[in-house]
Amino acid sequence: MTQPWSPESWRALPIQQQPTYPDAAHLAKVEQRLASYPPLVFAGEARELRRQFAEVTEGRAFLLQGGDCAESFAEFSAGKIRDTFKVLLQMAIVMTFAAGCPVVKVGRMAGQFAKPRSTNDETIGQVTLPAYRGDIVNGIGFDPVSRVPDPERLLQAYNQSTASLNLLRAFAQGGFADLHQVHKWNLDFIANAPVATKYHQLADRIDETLAFMRACGLDSAPQLRETSFFTAHEALLLNYEQAFVRQDSLTGDHYDCSAHMLWIGDRTRQLDGAHVEFLRGVHNPIGVKVGPSMNPDDLIRLLDILNPSNDPGRLNLIARMGAGKVGDHLPGLIRKVEGEGRKVLWSCDPMHGNTIKASTGYKTRDFAQILDEVKQFFQVHQAEGSYAGGIHIEMTGQNVTECIGGARPVTEDALSDRYHTHCDPRLNADQSLELAFLIAQTLKDVRR
Ligand code: PEP
Ligand code: CO
Repeated sequence: MTQPWSPESWRALPIQQQPTYPDAAHLAKVEQRLASYPPLVFAGEARELRRQFAEVTEGRAFLLQGGDCAESFAEFSAGKIRDTFKVLLQMAIVMTFAAGCPVVKVGRMAGQFAKPRSTNDETIGQVTLPAYRGDIVNGIGFDPVSRVPDPERLLQAYNQSTASLNLLRAFAQGGFADLHQVHKWNLDFIANAPVATKYHQLADRIDETLAFMRACGLDSAPQLRETSFFTAHEALLLNYEQAFVRQDSLTGDHYDCSAHMLWIGDRTRQLDGAHVEFLRGVHNPIGVKVGPSMNPDDLIRLLDILNPSNDPGRLNLIARMGAGKVGDHLPGLIRKVEGEGRKVLWSCDPMHGNTIKASTGYKTRDFAQILDEVKQFFQVHQAEGSYAGGIHIEMTGQNVTECIGGARPVTEDALSDRYHTHCDPRLNADQSLELAFLIAQTLKDVRR
């Protein structure tokens, strides 16, 4: 018998990866304030994303999820949001046009602040301090004051998320995403990259297609002028997430209105843990990261808890195995899930299993390994007869040097040039677009 769910039922269960706030009363006050503030998204929008997820699960669309590993307070500007949005639009149009497949766009944006860490502390030389857990918790500076968890940061994260989401909504619906602007989405600094030429060729073909449609009187569909864009983040800090639970007046169901989609990280998906408990009761579409330590029976138990009605739009399993491990772990999971007739959206996170340390000390990822994991993901699904439904990546529209490799290769020595991430290394615009072309080709082959 499952216990009844409530927005705070997670509080009775064991919980991982939470900060220790020195002042519990301060935290409680902030939680109350957040709960009184307007939600970031509405239940109807989360339901629409569930409908689109179901389309992906049934093999009729593809999911593109991307954005920062960790958003930060310092790197917050309209330009940065616009550039990431541009690259996501470019990636989506490449896949839509080249593969003839609708793409559902979800940003790791407007709320992706909290980070799970592999250790509670960080030691540099003789000094040990609490680990940095994302700007929503503490500061990245390696000094005792910065590292104290401060509840005021929850309010700042909320304010930054509302401003970001406001801009994203304007970009998606205010003319920027108009397909007639497809050439203008290209970023100046990739103008000379090989992938930019490829992109402009594709954009020329889109222009021709639009001109043809106009000539036929077929260019009035709103989908040509605007797009839908959704937000997602890891639901890690449950004090924050609980504050955004609202009961939908139409259905009576609860939604976590801090983002359209929430996911559970690979470190917090314990069957009897607080994160699974919290997310089982909200009706948003949800994701679960699935790393090499997941076994098929536990995965089925997790699906029983999170998606008891086997709704095709509810659950996105985000495989993040590492380039060398896909073949060892993914086939068994797919076989079990598909064999039991469970409806899930399978996507691939080719980032988190491929983090390495460069000889220069930087945490990086090799673009070749990222491509490799994506290819294996598609191959395994093809062999199992299941649908490879999406990609989940850490990327930015900024001209960063964080992941090595790519057609205009970032070398190990160049990592220090523009290494700006607050957590994991991200693909830059070139690398992201290159990945999109690869996926488009693969999708086209699979869907033929
Ligand atoms: C992340 O997506 O940034 C992350 C921490 O992933 P995972 O839970 O898969 O390690
Ligand atoms: Co990350």
